[in-house]
Amino acid sequence: MRFSSLSTVLALGALKAAATPTRPELAPRATPTVYLCGDSTMANKGANDGATDGWGQYFGTYSSVTVVNKAIGGRSARSYWAEGRFAEVAALVKSGDIVVIEFGHNDGGTPVTADNGRSDCPGAGTETCISSATGETIYTFVFYVIQASKLMTAKGATVILSSQTPNNLWETGAFVSAPPRFVGYQLTAQKALGTGVYFVDHYEAVSKTYKKLGNTETNALYPNDHTHTSPKGALLSAQAFTQAIYTKTNGTTSLYDYVINSPTVY
Ligand SMILES: *[C@@H]1O[C@H](CO)[C@@H](O)[C@H](O)[C@H]1NC(C)=O
Repeated sequence: MRFSSLSTVLALGALKAAATPTRPELAPRATPTVYLCGDSTMANKGANDGATDGWGQYFGTYSSVTVVNKAIGGRSARSYWAEGRFAEVAALVKSGDIVVIEFGHNDGGTPVTADNGRSDCPGAGTETCISSATGETIYTFVFYVIQASKLMTAKGATVILSSQTPNNLWETGAFVSAPPRFVGYQLTAQKALGTGVYFVDHYEAVSKTYKKLGNTETNALYPNDHTHTSPKGALLSAQAFTQAIYTKTNGTTSLYDYVINSPTVY
């Protein structure tokens, strides 16, 4: 601009002023939109069986953010990636938005001998596997989560890697909490990414909630199986998530400032 004539500067100024209203993504925004990426335990209507629900939409009650629940039943970190779902969310996010990524329920299995299209390659790093079904290369849970997070942070969003919800921890009548490996993998991915990516141990928060709730009440939250909860269970999972964010159980996250009402469920 140093060598521009005054008329060029004025013209550019007018152009900038005229362009501003048509580019709302550049305007400062009071509250971000939070996009939720996950499986049936987070999705609207849960397992779509009329009896279960996911926790995602309930979070809106406890925060000032706009919640867009992009969770879809049956998905793993791998299949959400392979279907272009992370890319779809990345295309929507604007600078300052927040993306919560929570997978694990559909990520297990053995893709080299019985690939179901969802299993990740075992390991927490750059290991690769060849699919027994298609011959395609499969990467680890950590790899998919890292790639997905990078798509979001490249758009100026922050990411919260949330560990999966537990199954019914009172299924046997005794309380047994043994976090699946995907819980730790979320933390591994967060540590690899650093700035702009946060971790919250949702598994631990819901686990503590169930422990406090006890056998009978926890079992009553599971109408059909040990994974999908009733709407009441989904609400509890959202409340436990909120409490973990508000009390900063695993450090401060970018959602902290937007919690408007934190329940105490554990
Ligand atoms: C998250 O924080 C809680 C509370 O301090 C702790 O029990 C849990 O182990 C942490 N999660 C991980 C995966 O480190």
